[in-house]
Amino acid sequence: MPASASASTSSSSHHHHRVRLRSRAVPLILVVVLTVLVVTELLRTSSRGGLPPSARRSSSSSSSTRAGGGNHSVAQRKILLDPDFTPRLPRQSPLSLSLSARNALPARNTARFPALPDGHLKIVLYVHNRPRYLRLVVDSLSRVKGIGEALLIVSHDGYFPEMDKIVQGIDFCQVKQIFAPYSPHLFPDAFPGVTPGDCQSKDNAKEKGCQGGPDQYGNHRSPRIVSLKHHWWWMMNTVWDGMEETKDFDGHILFIEEDHYIFPNAYRNAQLLVDLKPKKCPGCYAINLAPSDVKAKGEGWESLVAEKMGNIGYAFNRTVWRKIHAKAKQFCAFDEYNWDITMWATVYPSFGTPVYSLRGPRRSAAHFGKCGLHQGQGSSNVCVDNGSGAVDLEEIDKIPNIKADWPVRIIQRQEGYQAGFKGWGGWGDRRDRELCLSFAYMYHVKDPSST
Ligand SMILES: *[C@@H]1O[C@H](CO)[C@@H](O)[C@H](O)[C@H]1NC(C)=O
Ligand SMILES: *[C@@H]1O[C@H](CO)[C@@H](O)[C@H](O)[C@H]1NC(C)=O
Ligand SMILES: *[C@@H]1O[C@H](CO)[C@@H](O)[C@H](O)[C@H]1NC(C)=O
Repeated sequence: MPASASASTSSSSHHHHRVRLRSRAVPLILVVVLTVLVVTELLRTSSRGGLPPSARRSSSSSSSTRAGGGNHSVAQRKILLDPDFTPRLPRQSPLSLSLSARNALPARNTARFPALPDGHLKIVLYVHNRPRYLRLVVDSLSRVKGIGEALLIVSHDGYFPEMDKIVQGIDFCQVKQIFAPYSPHLFPDAFPGVTPGDCQSKDNAKEKGCQGGPDQYGNHRSPRIVSLKHHWWWMMNTVWDGMEETKDFDGHILFIEEDHYIFPNAYRNAQLLVDLKPKKCPGCYAINLAPSDVKAKGEGWESLVAEKMGNIGYAFNRTVWRKIHAKAKQFCAFDEYNWDITMWATVYPSFGTPVYSLRGPRRSAAHFGKCGLHQGQGSSNVCVDNGSGAVDLEEIDKIPNIKADWPVRIIQRQEGYQAGFKGWGGWGDRRDRELCLSFAYMYHVKDPSST
């Protein structure tokens, strides 16, 4: 097994790899090949209109259970699939199969928290292997007002007993664990892990007789680097389209990570933002618990703020998920190993209008910790940061601090990654792109074949 990578998506944690990739020149031949590929892809997509019935899942029960009566469920359920693509999933090992079986288990703590009230949020916490961080996050969640009303879904990239144990100790809300069964971390000697005969770093496949397609900078795939984007995409598809617990859910799902400290007012603030969004910011796709600049604490204004989507504590509904899912091809084909940059550079720009997210003027969640992507729990470089002292919590952050009569300030300049960015690479191998696309199809076709 390679040294594990952390699941952090903060800009600082990408830094190391980005710098490394940036310094490489793009050979002309690759540019030509890529251009041809892009043009072919464009022609392919534009020449295809309708869907064959076989590729469509029947729109199952979409009745709403929310209060207020009426037919709340307006989320688009039609799934757009390419009839020419056959999803294929890797053959599962015994460990992978046992994790799939666990994914089907019901949530725990349902006796103590029998009813999830109308208007509750589901919370998805996605984690890799930083137990010190996870303990801190779970501790912060235990102090969140209203958390007992939520279903907490913890999604694991790989299987790590200590992480499992921490989640099994959660007693303050309904909790369900899911494990990405195709995580590269579960496949020590086969794809999506490293297959014998795979090219490494800048190998020339022809000369060396190895297999694998390099990225735009000439680098071959690295399982621990691609695992983050694979996990995020598998998780998104699973929590929206692959779980009994969310099948008929038309509310918002809130996404947090193992290095996000959650303030006591986060849940109630999130509910307020969700309720205010249709009135205050009809153009907003999501709500956020923190500014999109991961280091910012917020402006402290007496107003709501609409700005570009951030990746700390973001929540959206099924309508938005359908829009994202419809861009599966773009998401999976873009040569960029970070899911968030992939979204900013390809998926959101393709929506046609700026993708704003509504938040309060003070953050309700904070990114902490110094252990990034390349300082995980690897043997040589154990990251021992425990996140202490990262978050200074003020009294005002312990109670809901968003006012319904506030105006909305729109931050129009959307800094950072956007359309036109060509990606940091790391995602050039055809096998990764196909696995990614298979995740988008696996709950919508009858029987994804396994290879
Ligand atoms: C809700 O949808 C059902 C089925 O489409 C329809 O029969 C019913 O009249 C609708 N109810 C309301 C309140 O719109
Ligand atoms: C989901 O959110 C979007 C964006 O805020 C909104 O346009 C849509 O009506 C919402 N869908 C449902 C089913 O509430
Ligand atoms: C966290 O680390 C700091 C310094 O590395 C140490 O002083 C502190 O006691 C640690 N806290 C916990 C809870 O382990």
